Amino acid sequence: MKWFVLFLMVPVCFAHLNVYLSSAEVWRLLGLTAELFYVREGQINFYALNFVVPVPATIEELHFTWQSLTRRPLPYTLHVEVVSHQEAMHTPEFNITSEGFVPTEPQTWQVTLPCTHVVAAEVDITISLNVSTGSSSTTLHFRRRKICLKEAPRPAVRVDTIPHAPTSADIFYAGAGCAGGVLLIAAIGAAACRARARKLRRARSDEQDAHAFLPDSSCKSAASYTSYRRPTSLPAAAAEERARDLQQRIAELTIQRCRVRLRSVAMEGTFGRVYRGTYADEDGREQEVLVKTVAEHASQVQVSLLLQEGCMLYGLHHERVLSVLGVSIEDQTAPFLLYPWGSTWRNLKQFLLACRGVTVGGAAGTAPPPPPLTTQHVVRMALHALDGLLYLHSQHVLHKDIAARNCIVDENLRVMIADNALSRDLFPADYHCLGDNENRPIKWLALESLTKRQFNPAADVWALGVLLWELTTLAHQPYAEVDPFEVAAYLRDGYRLQQPANCPDELFAVMAYCWAMSPDDRPTLQQLQIFLRDFHTQLTRFV
Ligand SMILES: *[C@@H]1O[C@H](CO)[C@@H](O)[C@H](O)[C@H]1NC(C)=O
Ligand SMILES: *[C@@H]1O[C@H](CO)[C@@H](O)[C@H](O)[C@H]1NC(C)=O
Repeated sequence: MKWFVLFLMVPVCFAHLNVYLSSAEVWRLLGLTAELFYVREGQINFYALNFVVPVPATIEELHFTWQSLTRRPLPYTLHVEVVSHQEAMHTPEFNITSEGFVPTEPQTWQVTLPCTHVVAAEVDITISLNVSTGSSSTTLHFRRRKICLKEAPRPAVRVDTIPHAPTSADIFYAGAGCAGGVLLIAAIGAAACRARARKLRRARSDEQDAHAFLPDSSCKSAASYTSYRRPTSLPAAAAEERARDLQQRIAELTIQRCRVRLRSVAMEGTFGRVYRGTYADEDGREQEVLVKTVAEHASQVQVSLLLQEGCMLYGLHHERVLSVLGVSIEDQTAPFLLYPWGSTWRNLKQFLLACRGVTVGGAAGTAPPPPPLTTQHVVRMALHALDGLLYLHSQHVLHKDIAARNCIVDENLRVMIADNALSRDLFPADYHCLGDNENRPIKWLALESLTKRQFNPAADVWALGVLLWELTTLAHQPYAEVDPFEVAAYLRDGYRLQQPANCPDELFAVMAYCWAMSPDDRPTLQQLQIFLRDFHTQLTRFV
């Protein structure tokens, strides 16, 4: 993995010095409980330095802590530069002098990043610290990306109206913070690994904490940011609660790699791999598992996406939801995610394709071809997915990528909703970039998600409609003839997916209802459930 390599390359010694973010600060910025050292006893954490930390709109000042560990005076100079979008930010200011000596007691100083609120922008800021030791000097650059909104940010939570209608800006920025969080966790974790490798003379409990937090905090940050915006500053009691909760989750989620046996490759993408295997718990009980991991050459972004998306459903328990069982990021090898797995379970998209006699994705074609699906089956399967989604929404989680590829089906045609980790890689034809760097499931997205990046429960309903269409067409590609760049215009002009040949009018009417232009005009999941149940009853009456 790149971050480990980076570490082994840098035996840089620096003035005897600590520069770090206190755990309170890391908590405030990233929702994790660990200190983040940029310089620890003179060793520079380049990995951490390389990351641009996203600063949410609600945070105006950043705190750094430092301490000189020598008695010799350590002169410093501090400088801050607004690298982009100068119009969005007033000049940042330190609350200590820009030249002086690093104190020998721990000192916290702050830099304020005042938005002008004239324009909305992501402002890149570089804080440079130059420390001289006798003849030489070293400069460290801390990079931040501050989110500036046009109006001053509202207080974090709003409990009136619909509890789950964050604006697109909320979602987008929360997402950005999340990715940064995962990468930083990696930095914290890597620092811990490096320190262990060097057999640090002094045992430091915080180091262990940082390492232990590695897998779970990624889940935590992902889980709390994927759907709903949470308050960025929590009352102390709540923070403590969360920290305790974290500890507990770590214990639940971290698994030892040695307990996992990989048996066969279930699916393979360009960098993602899905294996079938077994997991033996502490009592020696074996269980079938599915393992999602990435190849050696995967980038950091791919790794953090795997963790972030794989942990999306962590901690959710429902018979129609497949949530992650364990995570491992130990030992400098690729991280992996572990899911409970039944021997007859299959990816729903692959299953539907197999019903049509098409096989995709590696060793998927080994199972016998499934029996033909009837409308009754289809409706029942849709109801299962709907139950899963109802549960997610009741837990305030938006899925945002409901599709056959992200569902599981067993031999009794019971369907479960899974996360979308690695789906971009395993089903590349289902995702497209529209000129930006974001690979999105364009043809499953509701119009407002596509054009304004707004996500709401009704957007999941839209995607559920597309899933229903996939079920009735046995996983045909939606709008196969439409260029991804044209989809938004196509939808805006009122075009929708066509009625599949064998699809009853009533069922198609439901799908079309899910694709109403305005989110408010789409059915709620409860309405859909009532309709589909009734329809299912009617169907069984005639058989
Ligand atoms: C600078 O700000 C930090 C954090 O708010 C505070 O703890 C510290 O006392 C301040 N220092 C000075 C010199 O005002
Ligand atoms: C750091 O400060 C020292 C002393 O003020 C100066 O000689 C040196 O050029 C500075 N280094 C950088 C990279 O700015």
